Amino acid sequence: FAFDAESEAQIEKILKRYPAGKEASAVIPLLYVVQKQMGRATGSAWVPRVAMDVVATRLHMAPIRVYEVATFYFMFNTKPIGRFHLQVCGTTPCWLRGSDEVLRACKDAGALKGYGDTSEDGIFTLSEVECLGGCVNAPVLAVDDDYYEDLDYESTVKLIEALKRGERPTPGSARGRLCSAPEGGPE
Ligand code: FES
Repeated sequence: FAFDAESEAQIEKILKRYPAGKEASAVIPLLYVVQKQMGRATGSAWVPRVAMDVVATRLHMAPIRVYEVATFYFMFNTKPIGRFHLQVCGTTPCWLRGSDEVLRACKDAGALKGYGDTSEDGIFTLSEVECLGGCVNAPVLAVDDDYYEDLDYESTVKLIEALKRGERPTPGSARGRLCSAPEGGPE
């Protein structure tokens, strides 16, 4: 694994945020750069072990410390995944507002058996995640880094069908709600 030019440009900016000798503080952003580059290069956004070693060398860290971080946070994929990562929030507010229906729609439309599965065509990987911080518009489904909110079975199926066609619907509330009160008061 080697960083490409786009990643190198990002790393240069990231490292400027930290004082000399504190480069290790950049481990999370650099792992994120790796994951993004893998997504661009292979269609599967994940962090291979060999890339963790490259990050360790770049940040003058013991490799084990990089592995610890990469395996602790669920937003880092340490195994190859499908082109789109469907992440269903299963925490209580989303569950109360219908995350089971979002999950059912992901399975039906994405040809997925359940959490941890990748579809045979390699397009989708399905994961359950904890609160994504968007509970005001629960239930929430993250597709890679985009949050789709206020979903139900039908709107989730529609979203997944659009992804299959190569479209990327605008993230946000499927019902057009805002996550903060607009001028004139809340909805
Ligand atoms: Fe799902 Fe917070 S509980 S976004």
